[in-house]
Amino acid sequence: MEKKSVPFEKTVFVCTNTREGKVACANPGRGGAEVCHALKGAVKEAGLKHKIRVARSGCLDRCAEGPNLFVYPSGEWYSHVAPEDVPELLRKLS
Ligand code: FES
Repeated sequence: MEKKSVPFEKTVFVCTNTREGKVACANPGRGGAEVCHALKGAVKEAGLKHKIRVARSGCLDRCAEGPNLFVYPSGEWYSHVAPEDVPELLRKLS
């Protein structure tokens, strides 16, 4: 095991969990996967990949409020996120 510092200024964990028969951020029509994909693309396009890591997350235990994401290390939490929120989100992150 090798201990290191986190190699990114910020990591955004986007819930992309799906569940059959129960509410989940990335179930069809909810938008979690689309948010994650759009945010990854926006970070790349802005040339911020070395600073901001967008990671897919499992369930964050706030399923009914999803799609959810949170930012490490600041602890900012966003709920009811839609793909069209990505430009504003990127401004807040950068
Ligand atoms: S499925 Fe996203 S918070 Fe539970």
